[in-house]
Parts: sequence; C-alpha cells; structure tokens
Amino acid sequence: MSEHAFTPAERAAVYRAIAERRDMRHFVGGQVPAEVLARLLEAAHHAPSVGLMQPWRFLRISDPQLREAAHALVEAERVRTAEALGERSDEFMRLKVEGIRDCAELLAVALMEGREAHVFGRRTLPEMDMASVACAIQNLWLAARAEGLGLGWVSLFDPEALADLLGMPAGSKPVALLCLGPVHAFYEKPMLVEEGWATPRPLSELLFENRWGSSGE
Ligand SMILES: Cc1cc2nc3c(=O)[nH]c(=O)nc-3n(C[C@H](O)[C@H](O)[C@H](O)COP(=O)(O)O)c2cc1C
Repeated sequence: MSEHAFTPAERAAVYRAIAERRDMRHFVGGQVPAEVLARLLEAAHHAPSVGLMQPWRFLRISDPQLREAAHALVEAERVRTAEALGERSDEFMRLKVEGIRDCAELLAVALMEGREAHVFGRRTLPEMDMASVACAIQNLWLAARAEGLGLGWVSLFDPEALADLLGMPAGSKPVALLCLGPVHAFYEKPMLVEEGWATPRPLSELLFENRWGSSGE
C-alpha cells in the first residue's frame, strides 16, 4: 500500500460513491441547501481539464418559466429520438429519461465560447474540451451521491435552442441539463438495466493487453 493512500475508511467511501452513483430521473422535490450546492459546484470546478482550459460554464436555472421551457425542449427531442429509434420507439417512450419538473435544482452545463484559442492537448483531439466538461460533471455526480442527492444528466435537447433560451454567447454549447436533488431511493442498478433497455458488458470484455481484442492470456 502506498504511503500516500487514504485511510481504509476513506478509500471505501470513495469506491462506494463510485459504485452507488446512479443516473437519477425520479426526484422528490425539496431543496438543495445553498452551502451544499456551493460544495458540489466547487467539486465540479476541481476537475481536470485539457491544458487547464476549464471549459465548463454552469448556469443555475431558478426561473420556473425557464425550467418549463427547458422541459419543453427536452420533450420535443424525446419525441424526435423515439422517431429515430424505429422499432424501439414505443419502448423508448415508456422510459423515464428526465426529472426536470421534479428535481430541486436544475443546472445547465455548457462549453465556453472561444475554445479554438486553446490548442494544448486539442490540436489533434479538439473534443478534449468536451471530455474536460464531462470530468467536471462526474465530479459533481460523485459528490452529490456522497451528499445523498441524486443527479441526472439529460442530453436530450437541441443545443442551439437551449443556447438561445439561456442567452449563451455564439460559440458556446450546452452539453447537459443536470437534474439535482433529494430522491426517495437510489436505483440499485442503472435504470436502463432495471427497465430491460440495455445490458451492461463486464470489464473483462473491454480490457485488452498490447493488441486490441487480446486479453493477453
Ligand atoms: C453524456 C451522458 C448523457 C446522458 N444523457 C441522458 C439523458 O438524456 N437521459 C437519461 O435518462 N439518461 C442520460 N444519461 C444517463 C445514462 O443513461 C446512464 O448513465 C447509464 O444508463 C448508466 O446508468 P448509471 O449512470 O445509473 O450507472 C446520460 C449519461 C451520460 C454519461
């Protein structure tokens, strides 16, 4: 064990947050105390980012009319997604894919404008800005689980329409509507597994050694 390791209890807490984090779509309203929200956003802001560009922007949606308008955008995209899914359309429409109206807090997360000025680590992989924002959201997700709060990442929306709604500058791009707040209970398994929509693959099928597809045995 490295001398820099956390204590056993601390390590267990970290792995527990990772294992018990769930994407939540069922919320019980309520509130997120201001100091808790501040901690969660600080956790997100501690994320790694390519070239330390910190491309994330967080926008708290506290206006009920804006929340309704965001919900309408998601609902429109939900219907378009169902159409695009063809034979699984009805099955998809039965899934709950967002908790925008019921969550205590709604946050939009966006990529900042002017990202083309940041070349470090992005010359061949410009999408590393998106990867950095995802790191921030994952930090927030894990911290929320540790605080006992659910979080759901909603990406079913037209980014241009959401950007217009929230007055985002040209060149910025919303990537998430985050539903955050108290929940009755955390799903034991990913909800898409519980609902029979998807089957996760074990790590052993996704881990290679030296050559793609080789387990190294
Ligand atoms: C980038 C990203 C976008 C997602 N968008 C949605 C979404 O729009 N609606 C939804 O219900 N779940 C969304 N999810 C949640 C996934 O469905 C969920 O993470 C996956 O089923 C595994 O479940 P778990 O997070 O509980 O482990 C998204 C997750 C990620 C990482």
